Amino acid sequence: MSVVFHEKSGEFHLFNDEISYIISILPNGQLGQLYYGKRLRDRESFEHLQEYGMRSMVAWVGGLGRRDVSLELLKQEYPSFGSSDFRNPAFEILQENGSHVSNFRYVSHEIISGKPGLSGLPATYTEAPEEADTIVFTLFDEVTQVELKLNYTVFRDYNAIARSAHFENKGSQTLKLNSAMSFSLDLPGTEYEWMQFSGAWAREREPFVKKIGSGVTSVESMRGCSSPNQNPFVVIRKPGTTEDCGEAYGVSLVYSGNFLAQAEGDTYGQTRVMIGINPRGFCWNLTPGEVFQTPEAVVVYSAQGLNGMSQNFHELYRTRLARGYWRDRERPVLLNNWEATYMDFDEEKILNIARKACEAGIELFVLDDGWFGKRNDDFRGLGDWFVNTDKLENGISGLSRKITEMGMRFGLWFEPEMVNEDSDLFRAHPDWILATPGREPSLGRNQCVLDFSRKVVVDAIYEMMEKVIADSDITYIKWDMNRSITECYSAAYAANQQGEIYHRYILGVYDLYERLITRFPEILFESCASGGARFDPGMLYYAPQAWCSDDTDAVERIGIQYGTSYCYPVSSVGAHVSVVPNHQILRETPLETRFNVAMFGAFGYELDITRMPEEEFEEVKKQVAFVKQYRKLIHTGTYYRLADPFATNEGAWMLVSQDQKEAIVMYSRILIHPNSPVKRLKLKGLNPDLEYRIEAPRKKEVSRCGDELMYAGLITTEPAIGDIGEAGADVYTDFYSKVYVLKAN
Ligand code: GLA
Repeated sequence: MSVVFHEKSGEFHLFNDEISYIISILPNGQLGQLYYGKRLRDRESFEHLQEYGMRSMVAWVGGLGRRDVSLELLKQEYPSFGSSDFRNPAFEILQENGSHVSNFRYVSHEIISGKPGLSGLPATYTEAPEEADTIVFTLFDEVTQVELKLNYTVFRDYNAIARSAHFENKGSQTLKLNSAMSFSLDLPGTEYEWMQFSGAWAREREPFVKKIGSGVTSVESMRGCSSPNQNPFVVIRKPGTTEDCGEAYGVSLVYSGNFLAQAEGDTYGQTRVMIGINPRGFCWNLTPGEVFQTPEAVVVYSAQGLNGMSQNFHELYRTRLARGYWRDRERPVLLNNWEATYMDFDEEKILNIARKACEAGIELFVLDDGWFGKRNDDFRGLGDWFVNTDKLENGISGLSRKITEMGMRFGLWFEPEMVNEDSDLFRAHPDWILATPGREPSLGRNQCVLDFSRKVVVDAIYEMMEKVIADSDITYIKWDMNRSITECYSAAYAANQQGEIYHRYILGVYDLYERLITRFPEILFESCASGGARFDPGMLYYAPQAWCSDDTDAVERIGIQYGTSYCYPVSSVGAHVSVVPNHQILRETPLETRFNVAMFGAFGYELDITRMPEEEFEEVKKQVAFVKQYRKLIHTGTYYRLADPFATNEGAWMLVSQDQKEAIVMYSRILIHPNSPVKRLKLKGLNPDLEYRIEAPRKKEVSRCGDELMYAGLITTEPAIGDIGEAGADVYTDFYSKVYVLKAN
């Protein structure tokens, strides 16, 4: 991997073994985009890949004396507003004289081994300088005296480019940054498809595909969080791209707040793709000396279809975005008491559940909502982070010690960013919430949002949390966030700074995470936002796993986890076995299927294990042992999607170990059909020359060669009801699934 500067042509070639990204200096000094895709042989110039020309109704760039240079026609790196380009800009600066026009000209560049961090923001990183090269371009706008730095990192081992932008006002004007995207790329052609991951509470990240064509296609969040409605991740792909072949660009934003992802097909055969902080509701005061750093965007180019794209994201995000003590450690099998008790518990009930969980081999007990303040329902208590001794007479410290003495770890739930009006915290500081003067704040789940743009608020929450954690044996924290932000206004900031609050809020969240991680580096954080409402790369930097969805129904989860897999690694997907009828949708599914789906995540249980029939409890013991045996393979193996549950009656995926000697396959057939045809599932990523032993419950062990399993397929057919003389209804029914383990010598 390398960054090469061709001085004569003024071109920069960023490449690794698989990809090339080529930038040029345009005649007006701005940066132009020449190519991004499969690796090209380096040469002095790729200038011919730029579209110079003269057309009617286009405006050409002033002061050059050339009539063939129009920004409307040129592919650019970080396009500006208001000049000869009429497409959406990557940024916009409002000046004192009312002008929005700027022209950032190349001044210099610096090539750095490795990757510098982004202060106060989550970002991918390197552990050794040889893992990546970074080029930092310095550009300058003479009129506003603003310096713009554009950062590009090319990784050695991933087909990924990380980008961000940094503005600094070096002049004397008071400027307003009205938008500043993290990434903008002009691709040739408009024949692309757009893939987005949309949903709502309990049905997050369902893939949807549309044609881009002419005009703007976009998704965004204005909820103050990345949201369950749209994920800050989109795919731009060529028509005909499948899971296994074709070209795809995955565009991901390492950020947890409002975002905009957009593709704009223009009239002259280009598509402008961008992602960054949503310009709506955003305005940063760039006063003299002030800087603004955008979040990071990560873009993966894959010539090996969608699976190839996802595998790059998985490895990069699992190993060079997630951090800390738990990054590479096997995650503990946990039991969370939420669906077991909700807020109705006392110490005895909790200890009974924990004891039984321990007997099953479960390694971590998590006490969810309801342990603090007067929190007996969701109308009160948030903000009062001290134990309710009516429920837990020995406090969190006493309870955590008893659980630790059993031989289990102990974890605790917090919702640090929120407050109920019925709380001591709110009574003492009613002005600490986000609210617009003179108007009633909207409530969500009966709670208000604390003003995390203010250090004093973050400090107060840190102190309360620090005390509880330091006094107890806590090794895991579930950090929840259960409502969107409304009336985003801070009492502590001036009128002209209110456009900064959404972003300052998220910076406050990151700051609290960073402080807690620094103080308690061995705590495993799991992020959560009413399930998966903040399942984004920003959170993964602090919390290596996230509660994927409040929907614990196994069939729903096949789709949710399948959709989540397009960007996020299995190790980040919090997934639990819960009871039936399911609490969210009342469906009854076999325990085996609930397990078969949940094991492909950061695994646990969410049920009252003391109320389980004995034979199910025995089953749970086996499940826990199975997960312990295979969690390393599941979390670090190469992931392949095999069958799409949104398009068919089946859902399937598999993981293959790095040496290809082990693999684990999940196959599910959602609804049963009588007398069904023979099914072959073509496996992926195996070594064609190896012979694999295949183990599956209630199946005779067989051996098959890798080539046969990939090219002819694994026969997954089970006899169905209605087939002569075959299955019992208890085994082969709706919501059927099976896990196959493959081992080669
Ligand atoms: C959210 C979470 C749940 C649970 C509850 C507690 O809904 O997603 O898992 O923690 O809050 O109130």
